Amino acid sequence: MAQMLAARGYADVVLLDILEGFPQGKALDIAESAPWVRFSGTVTGTNDWADTADSDVVVVTSGVPRKPGMTREDLLGTNAKIVRSVVGQAAKASPNAVLVIFANPMDAMCHVALDASGFEPARVVGQGGMLDSSRYRTFIAMETGASVKDVSAWVLGGHTEATMVPIVSNASVGGVPLTQLLPADRLQAVVQRTQRGGAEIVELLKTGSAFVAPAAATIEMVDAILLDEQRILPCCVRLSGEYGIRDAYVGAPVMLGTGGVQTIYDIPLADDELAAMRKAGDAVKELVAATPAG
Ligand code: 2OP
Repeated sequence: MAQMLAARGYADVVLLDILEGFPQGKALDIAESAPWVRFSGTVTGTNDWADTADSDVVVVTSGVPRKPGMTREDLLGTNAKIVRSVVGQAAKASPNAVLVIFANPMDAMCHVALDASGFEPARVVGQGGMLDSSRYRTFIAMETGASVKDVSAWVLGGHTEATMVPIVSNASVGGVPLTQLLPADRLQAVVQRTQRGGAEIVELLKTGSAFVAPAAATIEMVDAILLDEQRILPCCVRLSGEYGIRDAYVGAPVMLGTGGVQTIYDIPLADDELAAMRKAGDAVKELVAATPAG
């Protein structure tokens, strides 16, 4: 993420970790790529929150990744503790920042971050739908043979295998409905591959989870916020009645710009998709109830 953001050339990036030397080394390596990648922002590594003071956006990646055979939900206790501590310190150093939450289980970690920061919900946003939509669009392109550039398809709901909702009813490629391009069984296979997209990478890598697509998805959100782009993107946000869901972090289309989430859209969905959204809302509430208190 740091590398991708630095390469955009408009932001100063600070990498923070508890390991001494590690963020400094990573930052220096990225900074030393600047002459060839051609960017002029700074990239700094640190173990001290003071160096992050007054950040506009803080991306919270802290937490352990999955090992093969684990679900994202298995990480709940460990990562809640880490996210609570990191977000508390980040919020103190940068009281006006927008927090982009990445640690898993991401939907539940948004609740932990909201609580630990004391920020309003518009400034605590999770990235799951961005990554899952990236996978969905990639698989649609592979299956149809069409350019990924023309694929318009979104994953809403939760960022767990059981709660992810790849939306079929409004998916299209260049305006052609996806249901017209793929027979039902192939479409179902694409949906299922999307829901297992994270696990597919974990099974291949064996020692950790995906890096590049999650980074690209997250930095797209950072761009939207820092550059006040008013992008409409699928992000994990606290719903207040949309889709019949209240007080739960669930993926939905939102407008992102300065200050974080500017609008949440309650779009028409097929009945089964709406039911799956509500199931995602119930599931995150259950995870929140099971999250060990700080
Ligand atoms: C993924 O789906 C790490 O949750 C992330 O790859």
